[in-house]
Amino acid sequence: MLLEVHPSCPLLLELMNTITGHSGTWLPPGPPAWPLFGYIFNLGTMTHITIAGLKQKYSFVVWLKIEPVARVQHLLDSGILEIPECYVKKPSERPSFTEYATSDMNIPVIDLQDLFSDDDSLRQTTNNLVASACREWGFFQVVNHGISHQLMAATQEVWREFFHLPLEEKQKYANSPITYEGYGSRLRAEKGVSLDWSDYFFLHYLPISLRDEDKWPKIPVSCRELVEKYSEEVVKLGGKLMKVFSKNLGLKENYLEEAFGGKENMGACLRVNYYPKCPQPGLTLGISPHSDPGGMTLLFPDEKVSGLQVHHKNKWITVKPLPNAFIVNLGDQLQVLSNANYRSVEHRVIVNAEKERVSLAYFYNPRGDIPIKPVEELITEDNPPLYPCMTFNEYRLYIRTRGPCGKAQVESLKSSH
Ligand code: OGA
Ligand code: NI
Repeated sequence: MLLEVHPSCPLLLELMNTITGHSGTWLPPGPPAWPLFGYIFNLGTMTHITIAGLKQKYSFVVWLKIEPVARVQHLLDSGILEIPECYVKKPSERPSFTEYATSDMNIPVIDLQDLFSDDDSLRQTTNNLVASACREWGFFQVVNHGISHQLMAATQEVWREFFHLPLEEKQKYANSPITYEGYGSRLRAEKGVSLDWSDYFFLHYLPISLRDEDKWPKIPVSCRELVEKYSEEVVKLGGKLMKVFSKNLGLKENYLEEAFGGKENMGACLRVNYYPKCPQPGLTLGISPHSDPGGMTLLFPDEKVSGLQVHHKNKWITVKPLPNAFIVNLGDQLQVLSNANYRSVEHRVIVNAEKERVSLAYFYNPRGDIPIKPVEELITEDNPPLYPCMTFNEYRLYIRTRGPCGKAQVESLKSSH
């Protein structure tokens, strides 16, 4: 039995839920006769599947073949001068280059040098800077964060090399729309919604049960080792920041880390974003407006090419990256836990015609199956809980079915409560 569906088909999402836990393997890409970007799922010997509420019985193997997904980077190989229609945003969603060209505004820059000083007052000063950046911006850059600049540069370089490998080599890691792990391109769940101008590589570092180094690139040869070292350092920095956030919210130092499931069980995953040069940058976006669904993101942007824009006071501010700095931003789960004391912030990425851009986004997330709800200590009669209890897995699925759409996701939780 062969089912053919487009990756954005709602049926696929139902299948995703149904087949989780069943034996079966993803076999990307398909046999030579099938399109290079197709996916096949062998549902093994499963005999029942439920589609659209109907339980159906199969006594044979089910193959699921999913339509091709184009790699944005390789659209350009054919020398096109215009971007395909499916990447063209509606006029109201296109970046306006005049609106912010003159703005010299930037997100706050915080020196973390004194974070662990013996001097209480120096420590407090740094904590206060973080607290006000969290409240006013939800986005800031950190310098003197303790991570080796050389390690940062080497890790970014190795990923740049990966994306410059031939398509066939990268396709060995082609991801499935179900696990999302590996080399991929963005999909949209809704019909008729345009695509973003970027490809990515996504991998899990924590929890250890999800870490599978065989799924990380083998070429370039130093990739796995660098990712391992880089991840260890970034996760450590994330832990330090979570302590500062906890203290600033008036909670005990380890509160948020524990709420995320503890050091070993919390989630940490890396998405390396690759934004190819774009012949018509005014018509599209590298990533559409969204807030990050998880706890916190530590982004190492491309220092030489700006592109990230933060929505602040109704304007899109282009972040000017400082050398060797990390950009920190709060995600939806911290908004929920802090009962909107802290808020995740909408951001997007613009692309350009002259330069490609590589960014490393580290997501620091709650463990998938832990219920996340507003912290009781922050609830009072005047501040009732704004969000229902939901695990991050449930939330992620909720988001995936809707695709990135600004801050609508976390806000809709509120209204549904
Ligand atoms: C992201 C993101 C920004 C960038 O990956 O969620 O917002 O500059 N990335 O690549
Ligand atoms: Ni983001």
